[in-house]
Amino acid sequence: MHHIKNTFILLLTLSFLLSAVVYVSDFSFETTTFTQTWLTKVMNWTHYKVINSTLVGHTEKDLLFSLLPNQQIQRRATIAQTTDIPIYHHVAHPSNYHFILDEPDKCSQWDPFLVFMVPVAPHQVEARNAIRSTWGNESSVQGKAVLTLFLVGLTGGPEAQQKLEEESRQHRDLVQSNFVDSYFNLTIKTMVIMDWLATRCAQANFSMKVDSDMYINVEYLMSLLLAPNTPRENYITGYMMWDRPVVRNKNSKWYVSEELYPEPIYPTYLQGMGYVFSNDLSGKIVEASEKVKAFNIEDAYVGACLKQLGIAPSSPPDPSQFRAYLGQYKREDFLRVITTILGSPQQLIDIWKDLKKPT
Ligand SMILES: *[C@@H]1O[C@H](CO)[C@@H](O)[C@H](O)[C@H]1NC(C)=O
Ligand SMILES: *[C@@H]1O[C@H](CO)[C@@H](O)[C@H](O)[C@H]1NC(C)=O
Ligand SMILES: *[C@@H]1O[C@H](CO)[C@@H](O)[C@H](O)[C@H]1NC(C)=O
Ligand SMILES: *[C@@H]1O[C@H](CO)[C@@H](O)[C@H](O)[C@H]1NC(C)=O
Ligand SMILES: *[C@@H]1O[C@H](CO)[C@@H](O)[C@H](O)[C@H]1NC(C)=O
Repeated sequence: MHHIKNTFILLLTLSFLLSAVVYVSDFSFETTTFTQTWLTKVMNWTHYKVINSTLVGHTEKDLLFSLLPNQQIQRRATIAQTTDIPIYHHVAHPSNYHFILDEPDKCSQWDPFLVFMVPVAPHQVEARNAIRSTWGNESSVQGKAVLTLFLVGLTGGPEAQQKLEEESRQHRDLVQSNFVDSYFNLTIKTMVIMDWLATRCAQANFSMKVDSDMYINVEYLMSLLLAPNTPRENYITGYMMWDRPVVRNKNSKWYVSEELYPEPIYPTYLQGMGYVFSNDLSGKIVEASEKVKAFNIEDAYVGACLKQLGIAPSSPPDPSQFRAYLGQYKREDFLRVITTILGSPQQLIDIWKDLKKPT
């Protein structure tokens, strides 16, 4: 009798746990399947709310993306894993890593005025191809050479590595370093990008770190860089992030402990979706990073390195040209901006086609 009672209690507990699991997974699934109208509203709300809010700590871009249908599931998947992982502050310094795939002569052959460096996950070949066939294929703009390279970390295994190497032979635009490629490690990726620029491409006049899901109007960007009052040194601009509070909620994707970053507010920095800088800064940032303890928010970390250097980010001449989100596609909106976030590689291709149509 006693035995049966115990078994019954055990069964009851198990079924309770099971239903709790089902409830939780249901809940997270729900957010991935809402309707388009709701989405549009929420994105609109998020856009206004977040951009003007100081409550939300980090990038409205990530927030927006956690609501977008396409890449959302993938991005969501990284959320749970990235909290509470112990951080070893020395790991972000690029001297800890070496290049597996490299293009050491690309810059001396090309002599670029502007280099786009695109951090991307090894498997995101679709995103790379979309860029290669759109803004990444603009090799000369206003008579200035432009170069686009992709930076990846380690692949999942030998098969993925082989594919990547094939792609590298075909396009000669991949740089790979030997750190674990994860959302949490984006600061490492950015610092490796800075290291590559400083050691392989010091002759470039300007560089831009730009995410793989961005639309870039290279023509306008070039006009900005060639403008007579754009500084040639110690210059960095993009979407300004002022007075952003450090996220101390341990359940957040952007959680940073007080141990890693004791101050409550980040120094002024540029939103990670795309920031452009005079290329002297790449080496200076790597150097500064030796003295700045690393944390996992890559764009804010670059801001901390700039602060260490005593260099203030510049507001762009026309801040409305660096946009996070433009809403529903309107040709005239896209013709006015330098950067904005897109929903998918296919959207980049479609929009590009439309923008290049003669009017
Ligand atoms: C988004 O909100 C703004 C301001 O409230 C409004 O003018 C605009 O029509 C809205 N857009 C959409 C797509 O709902
Ligand atoms: C958000 O802030 C910007 C700049 O401070 C302002 O121009 C805009 O009207 C604000 N939008 C809303 C919806 O409050
Ligand atoms: C890049 O543009 C050239 C023409 O300017 C075209 O021939 C080539 O196919 C394009 N490359 C890609 C990957 O679309
Ligand atoms: C970040 O990269 C380092 C170096 O490869 C690795 O040891 C660490 O596990 C990575 N962390 C995450 C969370 O991916
Ligand atoms: C670009 O940098 C080179 C030196 O690396 C310099 O000679 C050249 O004048 C610069 N170009 C422009 C347009 O500033």
